[in-house]
Amino acid sequence: MTIGKEYMKDIERARRDFRALISSKNCAPIILRLAWHDAGTYDATTKTGGPNGSIRNEVEYKHGANNGLKIAIDLCENVKAKYPRITYADLYQLAGVVAVEVTGGPAVHFVPGRKDSMISPDEGRLPDARKGSSHLRDVFHRMGLSDVDIVALSGGHTLGRAHLERSGFEGPWTNDPLKFDNSYFVELLRGESDGLLKLPSDKALVHDPKFKQYVALYAKDEEAFFRDYARSHKKLSELGFTPPSCLKSALNKTMAAILVSATIVILSYIWEISKKVK
Ligand code: HEM
Repeated sequence: MTIGKEYMKDIERARRDFRALISSKNCAPIILRLAWHDAGTYDATTKTGGPNGSIRNEVEYKHGANNGLKIAIDLCENVKAKYPRITYADLYQLAGVVAVEVTGGPAVHFVPGRKDSMISPDEGRLPDARKGSSHLRDVFHRMGLSDVDIVALSGGHTLGRAHLERSGFEGPWTNDPLKFDNSYFVELLRGESDGLLKLPSDKALVHDPKFKQYVALYAKDEEAFFRDYARSHKKLSELGFTPPSCLKSALNKTMAAILVSATIVILSYIWEISKKVK
């Protein structure tokens, strides 16, 4: 896919539209969940799934884990209608990045160029909230993500709430579910006493010593959380995707190396000739 000037302009326009849409509808949480569920099906071994817009297929948004996400798909459709050349894959990831930004979270670097797919993975690739740390590792490592990614990304639960009719769980994780900050980790360390939601998969992060290290760090140091979250979110949003700009910079580096080598060869040739002339 070639990313031309017009595509880049549309991305910037869509970014502004998402800022307005997400702020006016207070829908940052479900938009972030949509971006994560489109990307989180990635399988690094088979190179299938991932942020490719396939969640818009009825068969996929009807998977149990995606309950409720049709709302977010329809919201994004308003922006898609204005900028039809933007792929769904880019659109959902752009929306996810804006959702984090407008609620006060870190800026997540966004590179466009994802291709759309109509092929949906089989049900069961997203994590099960009733399970513990070994399941979380199975699912995230399959995507090619690491332990620190698991904890940082779980901090996405600083936004939003669970809905009984969608997941069987109920309530928010924090006291201000429309503010992206490190309070998810602060509340997690407080334990059950605060009356806020703790999924079994959230609790796994404090029971597992390796995960807990990061939970403790993020609870006391919001900057560390924002730094790691921005990095992990970018990784998640680019699973299975080689950004065209990376290709360009790889190409530029190769060209520079060729030029340097050619200059050395030419200079040594001139040097040899000038020695002979003397
Ligand atoms: C670690 C494994 C994860 C599990 C097991 C999990 C599970 C869940 C569940 C059960 C819900 C409630 C859905 C509902 O009833 O509406 C939920 C909501 C949510 N999840 Fe996760 N999640 C995980 C990771 C993530 C990640 C990585 C992100 C983003 C970076 C994320 C962002 C969200 C958001 C923003 C909501 C709130 C949606 C709303 O308010 O409508 N989750 N998650």
